[in-house]
Amino acid sequence: MELPFAESYRIKMVETIRRSSREEREKWIKEAKYNLFQLKSGQVFIDLLTDSGTGAMSDRQWAEMMLGDESYAGASSYYKMKEAIAAVTGFEYFLPVHQGRAAENVLFSVLVKEGNLVPGNSHFDTTKGHIEYRKAFAVDCTIDEAFDTQCLHPFKGNVDLQKLEDVLKKSAEKVPFIIITLTNNSAGGQPVSMENLRLVRQMADKYGKMIIFDSARFAENAYFIKLREEKYRDSSIRDIAREMFSYADVMTMSAKKDAIVNIGGFIGLRDPELFRQCTVFNIMYEGYITYGGLAGRDMNAIAQGLYEGTEFEYLETRIRQVEYLGNRLIDFGIPIQMPIGGHAVFVDAKRFLTNLKQEEFQAQTLAVQLYIEAGVRGVEIGALLADRDPVTRENRFPKLEFLRLAIPRRVYTNNHMDVVAIALKNVFDRRDKVTHGMKIIREAPIMRHFTVELDLA
Ligand code: F0G
Repeated sequence: MELPFAESYRIKMVETIRRSSREEREKWIKEAKYNLFQLKSGQVFIDLLTDSGTGAMSDRQWAEMMLGDESYAGASSYYKMKEAIAAVTGFEYFLPVHQGRAAENVLFSVLVKEGNLVPGNSHFDTTKGHIEYRKAFAVDCTIDEAFDTQCLHPFKGNVDLQKLEDVLKKSAEKVPFIIITLTNNSAGGQPVSMENLRLVRQMADKYGKMIIFDSARFAENAYFIKLREEKYRDSSIRDIAREMFSYADVMTMSAKKDAIVNIGGFIGLRDPELFRQCTVFNIMYEGYITYGGLAGRDMNAIAQGLYEGTEFEYLETRIRQVEYLGNRLIDFGIPIQMPIGGHAVFVDAKRFLTNLKQEEFQAQTLAVQLYIEAGVRGVEIGALLADRDPVTRENRFPKLEFLRLAIPRRVYTNNHMDVVAIALKNVFDRRDKVTHGMKIIREAPIMRHFTVELDLA
């Protein structure tokens, strides 16, 4: 008999989680104004809010924590991180920051000016926030296939070269750089192919533009390239990652994802002049250049995490778990973004709650229902997250309305995935009875989803 697949690690330390009753959850979610960000984590049984900063560090990472060098300037931990970044990504210069959005803040303080256009593939919300906060505009150039959840394109994260060239042809002088998000989180954890990266590089060169990679899940992207792009079948994840990064001028990294740490990030650069300019803002916002808002122990854990996060066996375990959950949902007939992405399963709320209109926040309604059903916390990636148009202040209604079930790295077992799948099936079976969506009571002017207050519509 063929041996079944099993995890490439064993468990050395555990954290207790607590079940609750439906009555408790109904009370708690009402108190939280139907915003899952406002729940206490102890009110959640299985937390799939995010895969960011929620992973389990390895014994080796914890050992590195003990070895961290807590010096204000010139810590050996900084050099350890520098070496790991150079080895895994090829970037010679780097600045540590406390997380991914801090990297955006520092870099965009130098590069983004009022009236700029920043084309890319479904900018992440903080990326878009940092662009719009500077009175510039994010232009989404993702391929159309990404917006049809049932279309089985292997690289739905790809940039549409025609859309990109249209922006560059019309307004090249307004474009400070092109940004590519690996994997494309907002479109469903979907990868970008090496071929697409190469072609975007060619176009960037034609118009003399820089390319920035938002690299939070670059290792998962590399895994998909290995599996889905014939030419790379026999390449190592590290070699694939090195080639991917060879097409970028700058990278921003939220180490809370693919470097499997609970906090941290960095900017990788090649140009010493841009590095110097960023240094000014790094010192102002983050901390001195050799720690950037991190403890030495955090930098050590990131360095180790970069090596572990780019091991094939780890990535295979990780992504097969996401696939396991996705396949269970598919078996129940639940509509999800296909093919299944790298870090999360994205449930197509428009197809799930067909009774409701997008104006009633279908994905948020579904997230609340799933929480009440089993204490499972997902997150809305839809009209709430899309915010209002910064100019017209009208609500934006994105083409896709997702409930994202993001899976923390090395944390839950497939038994937990079974609970999530059955809970969602139960909601699916009673979907006709969900006749009321949500309405907004109070919201912030930007990135409202974190603090929004809602009520039943
Ligand atoms: N870029 C991408 C693609 C992200 O997914 C995130 C964070 C960031 C940048 C910002 O990084 O959180 O370290 O400041 N994504 C998390 C999520 C929050 O749940 O998808 P950060």
